[in-house]
Amino acid sequence: MSDHHLNHIILSEALQDLPIGPLRFLEQTGSTNDESARWAESGAPDLALVVADEQTAGRGRLSRRWFTPPGAALAFSLVLYPPEQEDWLLPRYTALGALAVCTALQQSYNLPAQIKWPNDILVAGQKLAGVLAEACWQGEALAYLILGIGINVFPHAIPPASALRFPATCLLDCLSQAGYQHITIHREILLRQVLEQLLTWKTHLNEPRFLHAWESNLAFRDQEVIITTVNGSGITEIEGRLIGLDERGALKLLSPRGQIITVLSGDLHTWRS
Ligand code: BTN
Repeated sequence: MSDHHLNHIILSEALQDLPIGPLRFLEQTGSTNDESARWAESGAPDLALVVADEQTAGRGRLSRRWFTPPGAALAFSLVLYPPEQEDWLLPRYTALGALAVCTALQQSYNLPAQIKWPNDILVAGQKLAGVLAEACWQGEALAYLILGIGINVFPHAIPPASALRFPATCLLDCLSQAGYQHITIHREILLRQVLEQLLTWKTHLNEPRFLHAWESNLAFRDQEVIITTVNGSGITEIEGRLIGLDERGALKLLSPRGQIITVLSGDLHTWRS
């Protein structure tokens, strides 16, 4: 069930002939996003890739902790230099990562993966992966963008229930539940599958088909949801039926009064917590 230990040779063999940048593999690091940012500061080329077996300070959106114990997960980050000042850069690149994971899980493992807006990947209502896109600006100009992706592969990647905001799962459990009892998952192959999808979707990033794919893979469409946002004046909750995305990637909700509300950021819930 468990795969072999990841190392630089295994990864570079699995990724050979993919048009990405150089690879750095670390047995242990704080966060692959931080490691990639340091690399970008010292001249990393476009699509440079950092993969770690273990993260000791992995983080998610809103500085939440992201749990990556050794041998359990796929944790990686790409250094990207978006070509020009693109609008709504972070939501769109977050969606690029989420769509890549989602379509890789659908196509390579036949799993019903969906995107829980804005940055989670769910299978059967449980979180399997998360995306953290971070931009570094120099004045008005974008210096670089780091796209980090974490996928729970084996059960020990799932944090203890007390640390969860949303139910979580891992790829091995999803495949077992789908009837694949004796499957061996190789994290380097999973990485390749996700990167292939990412490279393909990246070429369509500014086309209507990207927005369409993003929208059609959203979880909870046509369902009642609650979006929680935290700002200076406290916590705001917006309720409505999830009807889709606008061109910026903002969520469109149909309010109980029949108005269309767009929400640019927040946490999506399906129940009151
Ligand atoms: C989230 O669920 O809010 C996003 C989680 C993103 C985790 C990945 S793991 C690789 C990269 N390094 C990090 O510290 N975070 C991202």
